[in-house]
Amino acid sequence: MKATIIGGGGRVGSNAAICLQCAGVVSEIQILDANKDLADGEALDLLHGASSLHDQRIYAGDYDRAADSDIFIITAGLRRKPDESRLDLINRNVGLFSQILNSIKTAGMKQDAIVFVVSNPVDILTHLAVSFLGLPPAQVIGLGTMLDTARFRSLIANDLDLAPTQVKALILGEHGDTMLPVWSSATVGGLPLTGVKGCDANYQRQIFERTKTSGSEVISRKGGAGWAVGATIAETVHSIVLDKKQLLPVSSLQNGCYGLKDVCLSVPTIVGRGGAEKHIEIDLWPKEKQALQASARALKDMLKNVASA
Ligand code: 2OP
Repeated sequence: MKATIIGGGGRVGSNAAICLQCAGVVSEIQILDANKDLADGEALDLLHGASSLHDQRIYAGDYDRAADSDIFIITAGLRRKPDESRLDLINRNVGLFSQILNSIKTAGMKQDAIVFVVSNPVDILTHLAVSFLGLPPAQVIGLGTMLDTARFRSLIANDLDLAPTQVKALILGEHGDTMLPVWSSATVGGLPLTGVKGCDANYQRQIFERTKTSGSEVISRKGGAGWAVGATIAETVHSIVLDKKQLLPVSSLQNGCYGLKDVCLSVPTIVGRGGAEKHIEIDLWPKEKQALQASARALKDMLKNVASA
């Protein structure tokens, strides 16, 4: 399976590339970037490591060479400033993103190709991709709250001295200010997480706030996320490429789950070779469901602004 990373010369794209290379699941990785020298440099640096890692084809290319991709990963975009919300990014990134979508469409795509949006504001740009590309909506997915969920689980495990892979706790909604934590189904090793010593209401509030602001925290300390976002991109790609049917909080066009329609945001989703194959309406506490619907309203309002921009 071939993955093309559009924006592969940037921090997020190159970190996604190394995660895909180290896992050895995809057979081909194409690096595509507006800065061709950077794309060539990243592809060469990755290629140099191939003999110590896996037998994959890795190269820099262009949109024509990307036409046979099984999955297009779009990470290109301007980075958020520490005090800037993801939605504030919208006007700076929508123009660039539209050019990328046009280039993909012009060069052509396989009928079953998946378009995987990472660029921010990811939920809005995922919606634009669904509207523009004319692919079945399931074949267009956004990273959504995958990174927030990973941060949430990892920070909780770190604080409470638990195994990160055993902490299962979702963040849903917008990858942004209106995201919401789902404590109602949070577990560790199959047991209720809220029953663990130290995970009281005060800690729950504190760790969710820390998760929500983790993007800004990383931006202020090192300029922008890279390693964790690369890992969550690879996790999503592998569920697609291996048709794993994992239940992941990716962003996709809603068509009724929790009463949500015509908006892209993260709900529990079965992710396989068909992309966002099925939305799973797990039980939520009333306040969680209300927060999810509020998140959808905020995104719909923003989408109107984009439409009129
Ligand atoms: C973050 O939360 C890049 O939006 C991403 O760090």
